[in-house]
Amino acid sequence: MKLLILNGPNLNLLGKREPGIYGTETLESINAGLISYASARKIELRFFQSNHEGALIDALHESQEWANGVVFNPGGYTHTSVAIRDAISAIRVPVVEVHLSNVYARETFRHHSMISAVCKGKISGFGARSYLLGIQSFED
Ligand code: DQA
Repeated sequence: MKLLILNGPNLNLLGKREPGIYGTETLESINAGLISYASARKIELRFFQSNHEGALIDALHESQEWANGVVFNPGGYTHTSVAIRDAISAIRVPVVEVHLSNVYARETFRHHSMISAVCKGKISGFGARSYLLGIQSFED
């Protein structure tokens, strides 16, 4: 199985960014943990992070060439991006929406996701573990 771990804007700042909400672990450290989980299970992971909407859309399109699934934290674009929603609808690869924080325990503008309805499912509120749960959602 091959999965894309896709991260949107500001997630490159994990570890330094609002640690009370997002924790102190960096994205590199989270990804390293995912690699050790996946490599023991013959799951191939590829990683991509961008602060740019179009680059995330390109990564979703390109995932069709190789991936069985996408674990996607779109960051703030979750709540705003029709274009990212359309990209998820356009591809045949299933996408699981993940968030470190529990978006429902936060500001009301975070309660609405543009993408949830076109995703396979959604995981929110488990910190770095949300990504692991996202990977596990693709396992048998
Ligand atoms: C986030 C939640 C979003 O509301 C926020 O804009 C982020 C991170 C999360 O992982 O909890 O950038 O997606």
